[in-house]
Amino acid sequence: MRRDFYSKALILFAVVVFIIACTPRSSYKSLSVFFDGVPNPDVIDSIARADSLSKIAMTKDAPARDRVRTEYVFHPPYVDKECASCHDQGQMGKLLEPMPGLCYQCHEDFADQFEVLHGPVGGGFCTECHNPHLTKDKHLLVRTGQDLCLGCHNTNDVFSNEVHEDIEDADCTECHNPHGGDDRFIFN
Ligand code: HEC
Ligand code: HEC
Ligand code: HEC
Ligand code: HEC
Ligand code: HEC
Repeated sequence: MRRDFYSKALILFAVVVFIIACTPRSSYKSLSVFFDGVPNPDVIDSIARADSLSKIAMTKDAPARDRVRTEYVFHPPYVDKECASCHDQGQMGKLLEPMPGLCYQCHEDFADQFEVLHGPVGGGFCTECHNPHLTKDKHLLVRTGQDLCLGCHNTNDVFSNEVHEDIEDADCTECHNPHGGDDRFIFN
């Protein structure tokens, strides 16, 4: 009886050790040292879900398809499974080239449209604001309203400036362009 208990405990212990040793997170860490852009396992989970959603979005099952299509905004090259237009298929999900060049394969270069670029646009941090695959919000935005901007700009600094005193909950993009403008204040 007691012996039975110990052997069960031993098996359980071995299983736990095995799981810990093989958890994708640890292999992610070691691979990341070698390959820039190795998929983050936490995000793979959400991508896997997203992928099943994109499958549904492409099925002939009209009710399910319509539900997914109205709930999510898909980036066309993602839902069309053109993964290879952004990812090097040979190398662990590595990106073909860094942003913003990656995006300017298909989109007009903002440097050709504006005198001054917004900091993260010039720096190629497109994914600070856009998800390259899909979102629940329009324009593939990762956050909405003022939250989109106040993730980087300090709320107190912004609201202590008298020009912002009366904006209340107006979108910052009512006055500022998110990508660039004629001068440093990137007005629309
Ligand atoms: C328009 C370009 C583009 C397309 C098309 C695209 N991806 Fe991505 N993908 C990205 C970028 C950019 C990242 C990195 C996101 C980041 O670092 O913020 C990424 C990240 C990932 C990751 C790593 C997890 C993460 O978000 O960091 C996986 C996995 C992935 N993509 C799978 C796919 C699959 C599968 C497809 C096709 C169905 C696909 N991608 C199509 C641009 C794209
Ligand atoms: C393989 C071509 C391709 C690449 C590469 C690509 N896009 Fe797109 N993207 C499209 C197409 C097609 C559309 C839909 C038509 C349009 O709005 O221009 C689109 C639309 C968008 C939209 C508008 C969505 C909306 O609903 O208003 C955003 C934002 C966007 N892409 C961001 C990006 C970012 C960020 C990257 C780089 C990580 C990128 N795209 C790379 C093809 C591409
Ligand atoms: C600070 C946040 C932010 C960053 C960074 C950003 N965008 Fe956007 N982007 C937006 C917002 C907000 C919109 C919606 C604009 C609107 O309301 O018309 C948008 C719209 C778009 C659109 C569709 C409409 C248009 O204006 O052409 C594309 C394409 C796009 N972004 C691509 C990019 C690319 C490529 C990058 C990186 C070089 C990038 N964005 C960086 C916030 C951002
Ligand atoms: C990913 C971080 C990030 C996000 C998100 C972001 N910004 Fe910025 N923003 C910057 C950086 C970096 C600069 C350049 C800072 C500098 O030059 O001092 C900047 C500069 C600016 C400037 C010019 C400030 C100056 O003094 O010249 C304005 C205006 C601005 N952002 C508005 C916005 C608005 C509006 C949004 C939301 C649509 C937004 N930002 C979202 C990082 C961000
Ligand atoms: C009603 C129009 C309007 C709205 C809405 C607005 N701004 Fe501004 N913003 C301005 C004006 C005007 C200036 C000052 C330009 C100058 O000093 O000449 C400014 C300046 C800035 C600056 C640079 C000066 C500073 O305070 O650091 C930043 C950053 C900025 N805005 C961010 C934001 C953010 C973030 C939001 C949303 C929470 C926002 N703005 C909403 C009109 C607006």
